[in-house]
Amino acid sequence: MSTTFQLNTSTSRATPTPKPRKRLTVPRIRDHKQDGKTKEPLVMLTAYTARQAQLLDTHCDILLVGDSLGQVIYGLDSTLPVTVDMMINHGAAVVRGSYHSLVVVDMPFGAYEASPEKAFEVAAKIMADTGCAAVKLEGGEAMAETIAFLTQRGIPVMAHVGLTPQAVNVLGGYAARGRSQEEHEKIMHDGKAVQDAGAFAVVAEGVIEPIAIALTQSLEIPVIGIGASAECDGQVLVTEDMLGMFERVPRFVKRYENIAEVIDKTVAQYADEVRTRAFPTADQTYQPKK
Ligand code: KIV
Repeated sequence: MSTTFQLNTSTSRATPTPKPRKRLTVPRIRDHKQDGKTKEPLVMLTAYTARQAQLLDTHCDILLVGDSLGQVIYGLDSTLPVTVDMMINHGAAVVRGSYHSLVVVDMPFGAYEASPEKAFEVAAKIMADTGCAAVKLEGGEAMAETIAFLTQRGIPVMAHVGLTPQAVNVLGGYAARGRSQEEHEKIMHDGKAVQDAGAFAVVAEGVIEPIAIALTQSLEIPVIGIGASAECDGQVLVTEDMLGMFERVPRFVKRYENIAEVIDKTVAQYADEVRTRAFPTADQTYQPKK
């Protein structure tokens, strides 16, 4: 039996078959960690399209519509040019394609940093237009006031500390964080600040393992690692990276498949069959009714 849901294209909403499980909520994700401990790590992957969401949904707890879509989908150099409209279009598609996972949508660079009020306006639009359950934003202590402002007004926030790709120009690159005492202290401090501000979970990206472990042990909210540690309360990866869509991936990515090779071989066969008129055959052509 297929584990994916069927899209009923005659309506604007996807019709699930089999009947989906209840969608996970922010409190359930938050309470996955009890008394500072997580029994079974949370599973999170990025998703950008409805069909991708359908395929991932049954296996994941959280689907992140990451601003990494700038590079993965749009071929941009960084996440900086990603717009609110891009996030909304992809966020709505992922919500339509999923029934079980909590859907979190990234706030893009420039859309939330200016003030808590500006952040609220953008986050409320993202939630209203997509139907997602929460937003994610990058930054630790500097964003604490904004996180408190949003959470007190009905917008659940997942925070993101350590290597924050939207700050690539300040950080000077995408290298792992936490190698100096100053960076170590900053990451720990940022984690505590976003927790105290009301974030329900925090992504720790590209931090050296001892700090990822210390952060996970010190916080009450789930710490979701990427390039961090297996000791974190959950893991996230960019789906296209772990499926092997790209030749170059960061060191922390495990490639579970080589989808690029599968596509290359398949399309080569298609091209060959078109050029030799082997495709289409009688099976794929319409004939007059007898
Ligand atoms: O944008 C993204 O995909 C992310 C993950 C890598 C955590 O923020």
